[in-house]
Amino acid sequence: MSSKKFKKPDPNIWKQITVAWGKACSPSRPSLGDIKIYGKFILQSIGKKKNCRVLILGATPELRSLILKYGLSKKIDIFLLDLNLEMIRAMDEFVEIPNSKEKRVIGDWLSMPFKNEYFDLVLGDEVLINVSLANRNKFLMEINRVLKSSGAFITRASHENPLAKKFTLEKALNKYSNYYLQNKLKFNQAVNYVLEEIFQNSYFKNPKGLLSLKFLEKDCYKALKSPNPLKRLIIKTILDDYSSLFKQSWSWESRPQQLKKFKEYFQIKEIETARDYLYSYILPIYYLIKKLQ
Ligand SMILES: C[S@@+](CC[C@H](N)C(=O)[O-])C[C@H]1O[C@@H](n2cnc3c(N)ncnc32)[C@H](O)[C@@H]1O
Repeated sequence: MSSKKFKKPDPNIWKQITVAWGKACSPSRPSLGDIKIYGKFILQSIGKKKNCRVLILGATPELRSLILKYGLSKKIDIFLLDLNLEMIRAMDEFVEIPNSKEKRVIGDWLSMPFKNEYFDLVLGDEVLINVSLANRNKFLMEINRVLKSSGAFITRASHENPLAKKFTLEKALNKYSNYYLQNKLKFNQAVNYVLEEIFQNSYFKNPKGLLSLKFLEKDCYKALKSPNPLKRLIIKTILDDYSSLFKQSWSWESRPQQLKKFKEYFQIKEIETARDYLYSYILPIYYLIKKLQ
């Protein structure tokens, strides 16, 4: 997403994001499995340090809660960096225990308002997807710049799913409405997975490297006329609760391309993938160590 898009957002968007976040599940939000991996990597990187600084890119409530859970907030200074204060406020609602010590910084990830070598750890959940392919090197270079030597960047980052070429709205509606009827999924999970599959498939319908539901909106309106009331309800929920998603785009690349970029600025210490949700295989968590430039 270009930073421009985020400068003058529709004022209703925050309410919608809060509602949508409340109903969202993994992969959009980190799962319990993801949190466990994040926790392990965080402890490995700063568990034994005293008085360190941690930067969270964005305002992911699960990461903010995790820092508190480990009692780390006593010995670390925590900073949140986002272009939008409203987004941070919207996410506050989902943080288990509010942390008055968090410093909220409004700024661009591509030009961070911090000195060189300021942080021991940078965390970001699915942040790369928000940065255009053209800006990714700049973004990774900025993270590298603000990290102390041997500082860590821990991030869950999705990559393209070649299998998604064959996903269709119709197949997703059939599959997940059946799972719901068989009590294998809750309603919000069925909605999330239909959305996830068309989202992944959109990559193959858009100009290279872009994920956007723009070209699938027509299919969704068509599906509103389905004779099946459950399918109609799933589609109506997607169009009502997630309409802001249809106006945005994100960037993707293949796993080897992503790894190659990471390796320019970081050493790969560990990569681990949660196994507690569908499609977790395209969202590994990377534990990266700053490479001296
Ligand atoms: C889809 S949201 C959620 C992202 C992340 N998963 C989280 O939980 O915070 C994307 C967020 O990234 C922020 N964002 C996107 N590009 C940015 C940039 N260049 N600099 C700072 N914040 C940015 C947006 O303002 C928004 O709050």
